[in-house]
Amino acid sequence: MVQKAPIVVLTGAGVSQESGISTFRDAGGVWQKYSIEDVATPEAFARQPDTVHAFYNDRRRKLQDTGAIRPNAAHEALARLEHEWPGEVTVITQNIDNLHERAGSQNLIHMHGELLKVRCNTCGAVQPWHEDVTRRTACPACANPDTLRPHVVWFGEMPFHLDTIMAKLDDCGWFLSVGTSGNVYPAAGFVDRVRAVGQARTVELNYEASGGAFDDARHGPATEVVPAFVEDLLKA
Ligand code: APR
Repeated sequence: MVQKAPIVVLTGAGVSQESGISTFRDAGGVWQKYSIEDVATPEAFARQPDTVHAFYNDRRRKLQDTGAIRPNAAHEALARLEHEWPGEVTVITQNIDNLHERAGSQNLIHMHGELLKVRCNTCGAVQPWHEDVTRRTACPACANPDTLRPHVVWFGEMPFHLDTIMAKLDDCGWFLSVGTSGNVYPAAGFVDRVRAVGQARTVELNYEASGGAFDDARHGPATEVVPAFVEDLLKA
């Protein structure tokens, strides 16, 4: 079979919205209920760790209600694309949920971290985590208390895996942006980088136009536009 150009898919909160996880900046979104400065910065964690732990404990508990929160047709279509496309497909997600992997995506980069992992501020160990975390929780690796933090990227911190991501952006033939408002850098700048290289077709699949400079766009719910676009790509 003839190999086809690599596809890079960037996803954001919109891909998980129909699975029951709130987006950040839509009406009723997370940042209307909480302030970023209270729960999503290193300074917030230093100032009020209990509040930050409670915010992530709540989200972690909800994510593990696996009957209520399930991958949707958009996650499933992206997993299908990875398995059926005769070339590399990489999903780079800004989401900290686990719905892409539950749908079957394997070549997946969590650039903003993962809700179901914690990191130790003392020994650096990163571990899978399913329980609540408090300041009394001891690190399983080094046994120190008051040292675990969510393994997520807060505002003011560097996203994970940027070198790998940049190499994939520079090498791709398709760049799909799914369910992201394009407000948060560096992810918001990926489309411009891909266009500067000039070898990929850029497509936005989102509920509404984000304002980014894409070659093509299909607007609507992710569960409709993503499976339809994947079908077209696989038929082409
Ligand atoms: N289908 C498709 N798109 C949707 C849907 C849906 N069902 N629902 C919402 N959207 C779109 C919205 O129109 C919006 O453009 O998804 C986008 C969600 O944007 P944000 O809430 O800003 O989420 P995101 O872009 O992922 O945020 C980036 O910001 O707060 C940080 O770290 C957090 O990773 C997050 C980053």
